[in-house]
Amino acid sequence: MVENNNPRVFGSSMFLCLLVLMIWNKIVVVVPQAEARAFFVFGDSLVDNGNNNYLFTTARADSYPYGVDYPTHRATGRFSNGLNIPDIISEKIGSEPTLPYLSRELDGERLLVGANFASAGIGILNDTGIQFINIIRITRQLQYFEQYQQRVSALIGPEQTQRLVNQALVLITLGGNDFVNNYYLVPFSARSRQFALPNYVVYLISEYRKILVRLYELGARRVLVTGTGPLGCVPAELAQRSRNGECAAELQQASALFNPQLVQLVNQLNSEIGSDVFISANAFQSNMDFISNPQAYGFITSKVACCGQGPYNGIGLCTPASNLCPNRDVYAFWDPFHPSERANRLIVDTFMIGDSKYMHPMNLSTMLLLDSTSRT
Ligand SMILES: *[C@@H]1O[C@H](CO)[C@@H](O)[C@H](O)[C@H]1NC(C)=O
Ligand SMILES: *[C@@H]1O[C@H](CO)[C@@H](O)[C@H](O)[C@H]1NC(C)=O
Repeated sequence: MVENNNPRVFGSSMFLCLLVLMIWNKIVVVVPQAEARAFFVFGDSLVDNGNNNYLFTTARADSYPYGVDYPTHRATGRFSNGLNIPDIISEKIGSEPTLPYLSRELDGERLLVGANFASAGIGILNDTGIQFINIIRITRQLQYFEQYQQRVSALIGPEQTQRLVNQALVLITLGGNDFVNNYYLVPFSARSRQFALPNYVVYLISEYRKILVRLYELGARRVLVTGTGPLGCVPAELAQRSRNGECAAELQQASALFNPQLVQLVNQLNSEIGSDVFISANAFQSNMDFISNPQAYGFITSKVACCGQGPYNGIGLCTPASNLCPNRDVYAFWDPFHPSERANRLIVDTFMIGDSKYMHPMNLSTMLLLDSTSRT
């Protein structure tokens, strides 16, 4: 597939590229603090930087008006009017945005910035998002991470590669689609006939454990694990399930069961490992702050999507034919499922500096500080 199809790898620029890397490594050895850490991203559409552009799938954000507020004003595959959550985290750690792993531009020196393996539509389970046809399921994302490490090894050697991966920041965002695009996708879905909701959540968490353990085995040592947002409050669910604009009860119940068990899982894994490898982010609360009081955050609404059609602009997809609001900054939701860039900024702020209501066992600014001092 995509693995070795870039002719530049074998071209004359290879020598130049290695030279640059060697110089770069020297600088790193002298001033370790000057090095921005690598960043790896796994998960679904909330964090996909454009991998699905390269796939035969219906889960895509590669046409107008997606990206209308992106620096290039072009659609990139991000499910946002502008930047998404990983972009803003990259900004905070002083890095370039992560390139999609399937992008041909992710090559040479750029590999050292990290990579984005996320794919819109996927979930914890393999059967989540099957309606989107060809998407990169989480086990495949982890295989790509292995392959990535082999490619980087060929550039800077296995030891430096391991160091880069161990010192990297990792983000994983999963779970929402296991409800929205699986359990609750249709009435009497296969999973909802198989499991009562509480048992389904227990099953999801047991599968998520395997994924997090695998990430650890692959060298991840700082992993931000986000819970789901308030799934019942997104414009799509308001349009389909709400009578008076109240958040849809069954999806809120799903989030309320899933999120605390995810925090528990993170705590268990950290205590088994004996180190704070996993950090859980209460994305539910981060979103709920501005959803329950939009005006306090400068939004005119948290119910109506900027781009869409039907009640709450929550029906169907955001396309060139949809309603489009003139000022995206005053909408909490960009499309029927995804926050606007401004909302994403508020969410990332809580990851960075939120107190224990949002972040366990620490926030990202504390983590960055800890890691920078432990490395001198
Ligand atoms: C999902 O698919 C992968 C790859 O085919 C497989 O290794 C894994 O066991 C599957 N997971 C479940 C829960 O069936
Ligand atoms: C989170 O970050 C802020 C600002 O850096 C800091 O003052 C605060 O103590 C941190 N809170 C926790 C719980 O780590």
